[in-house]
Amino acid sequence: MDILPFLLLLISLYSTNGQKPNILLIMADDLGIGELGCFGNTTIRTPNIDKLAKQGVKLTHHIAADSVCSPSRSAFLTGRYPIRTGMTGGYKVLLWNAVSGGLPSNETTFAKILKQQGYSTGIIGKWHLGVNCESRNDFCHHPLNHGFDYFFGTPFTLINDCEASRPSEMQLSSRKKLKFYAQIFAITVFTLLVIKLLNLISIPWIMFIFAFVGTIFFLYWYVAFAFLSHWNCILMRNFDIVEQPMDMDLKANQIVEETKSFITRKKNGPFLLFVSFLHIHTPYYTTKRFRGRSKHDLYGDNIEEMDWMVGEILETIKKESLRNNTLTYFTSDHGAYLEGMVGSPHLKGYNGIYRGGKGMGGLEGGIRVPGIISWPGILPANTSVDEPTSLMDIFTTVVKLGGGTLPQERIIDGKDLMPLLRGTVPKSEHEFMFHYCDHYLHAVRWQDRSSNATWKVHYFSPKFSEGENACYGTKLCPCSGEKVVYHFPPLLFNLSNDPFESSPLSSDSVIYREVIHKIQQAVEHHNSTLCPVPQQLHGLKNTWDPRLQPCCGTFPLCWCMKESSI
Ligand SMILES: *[C@@H]1O[C@H](CO)[C@@H](O)[C@H](O)[C@H]1NC(C)=O
Ligand SMILES: *[C@@H]1O[C@H](CO)[C@@H](O)[C@H](O)[C@H]1NC(C)=O
Ligand SMILES: *[C@@H]1O[C@H](CO)[C@@H](O)[C@H](O)[C@H]1NC(C)=O
Ligand SMILES: *[C@@H]1O[C@H](CO)[C@@H](O)[C@H](O)[C@H]1NC(C)=O
Ligand SMILES: *[C@@H]1O[C@H](CO)[C@@H](O)[C@H](O)[C@H]1NC(C)=O
Ligand SMILES: *[C@@H]1O[C@H](CO)[C@@H](O)[C@H](O)[C@H]1NC(C)=O
Ligand SMILES: *[C@@H]1O[C@H](CO)[C@@H](O)[C@H](O)[C@H]1NC(C)=O
Repeated sequence: MDILPFLLLLISLYSTNGQKPNILLIMADDLGIGELGCFGNTTIRTPNIDKLAKQGVKLTHHIAADSVCSPSRSAFLTGRYPIRTGMTGGYKVLLWNAVSGGLPSNETTFAKILKQQGYSTGIIGKWHLGVNCESRNDFCHHPLNHGFDYFFGTPFTLINDCEASRPSEMQLSSRKKLKFYAQIFAITVFTLLVIKLLNLISIPWIMFIFAFVGTIFFLYWYVAFAFLSHWNCILMRNFDIVEQPMDMDLKANQIVEETKSFITRKKNGPFLLFVSFLHIHTPYYTTKRFRGRSKHDLYGDNIEEMDWMVGEILETIKKESLRNNTLTYFTSDHGAYLEGMVGSPHLKGYNGIYRGGKGMGGLEGGIRVPGIISWPGILPANTSVDEPTSLMDIFTTVVKLGGGTLPQERIIDGKDLMPLLRGTVPKSEHEFMFHYCDHYLHAVRWQDRSSNATWKVHYFSPKFSEGENACYGTKLCPCSGEKVVYHFPPLLFNLSNDPFESSPLSSDSVIYREVIHKIQQAVEHHNSTLCPVPQQLHGLKNTWDPRLQPCCGTFPLCWCMKESSI
């Protein structure tokens, strides 16, 4: 073993005032790999992120554990596939703040471990991993119960309803059900009234019970969906709700200012700060001064504003002389959204040469995301790593850097990135990666160490709308049922020469049989490591429950605006 690089690493790691490094993790929401200058986009201006890439290592084969928010983020924070933590189950993401599903309390985030190692831990921005379990204020899934000392942001995600002028997106998908219940209710009441008025027959009690139940159902749907922005678009500081509904005009500045202030407060370190942008999720809310500036309408404006935010944050790191003692990471939670915004379908994302996007299971465009890691003096500048890496690797990497130990009693899927980043090993530790859509295994990636080819097999893929490359009419492509294509025999691609996943190998070839066999063995082994756990995104666990609704005020009168504009 070559001991010298290792010793040098140790020396450089501890020469920085003998301190543990600060960890700054920046995550964009729904940003595609084709949307940054440093990843080949020539029409969107992202100078600040490009500069970060110049000062560090670009991960060109960086894979999210899922193609939608809640599961991907759970895997990022815990280093474990969502299927292990139960972030699966029918609905693909958490649909409300007021549901009992969320990241289970017995899961361990990197924040929890680093906090035990003396780190100040903060998260600013989007959470989307649940709030409560049993009552309005138990906060069992809240960031402060998952190892973070400080939280400023929204426990949910952006939805169109957060911007008053946009057509509601959740009402749209539930409108059919709403109409159905409303009709049943109206017909029942009308019939009862007619019978009563005409005094035709005496009405049995059962009819009144029926009408009563109908009324309850109707009220439930009405209350849930008519006040969406009050229920879901909320801003919290720690456990306090400070804006309900939140004012979108303030968000970009607030996130920047909160981040700067956290860094300045904690500059004596070590700190772990997770900046989880609301950008560039629909409805692409962009502050006035960035609107109309880009070549890609509101969508591009939103990316350019996000890049500005990154610049402001990095400037603060520099100003506080923390740059060489801070590992800075930038990524996106999964691929860009191709269906486009409700009401404005041309405002949609771009995943470079890769096929597919957000919500499309194992298709490359939904899971291959931009990744950048920079740590001047420790990691080489202006280089790239083309080996397969995972967002889950951040867990293992930062736990080790912070002096923590990995949980031993559970399986951790992330690998330490440092050897690869420093160039002390040539190959990724990920031989296989499993690409789930909900709890269905859609695809598997295999890096064959003997030939260096990266293979990918698809068992399922989404059935796109006729002649399109997206699933219109549903917000996200489904993971199972009639709206997916079941590939039998499975499709096999050589990603090394066909990253577009366009020409599957013939299933008659010898190499096909060999590769499929090898992958099948890996799947069986992986499958044997899974244990059944409660599914967090399932049925009633993901249905609006007014008893769990975070509320500033007396439910149902939830309204407040405690933050003054900055
Ligand atoms: C840059 O990103 C935008 C927004 O997604 C996309 O429309 C455009 O095609 C990309 N341009 C290039 C040259 O990659
Ligand atoms: C930070 O590291 C870089 C690269 O090693 C070095 O050139 C620079 O002088 C260092 N800056 C400080 C403030 O130590
Ligand atoms: C970064 O690398 C690219 C190609 O790998 C090279 O063209 C460029 O000059 C380098 N930039 C710096 C600042 O070293
Ligand atoms: C595979 O890659 C490794 C490291 O990049 C290299 O040493 C080896 O020769 C390659 N093997 C083949 C068969 O190309
Ligand atoms: C897979 O692609 C790589 C890169 O082009 C190539 O070297 C290799 O021969 C291919 N493997 C097969 C079996 O086609
Ligand atoms: C995984 O195991 C379960 C039962 O333990 C089985 O039902 C399922 O078919 C297996 N899946 C695969 C892909 O082998
Ligand atoms: C967490 O608790 C659930 C039961 O609620 C259990 O199934 C699961 O195995 C536990 N997870 C860990 C990592 O202990």
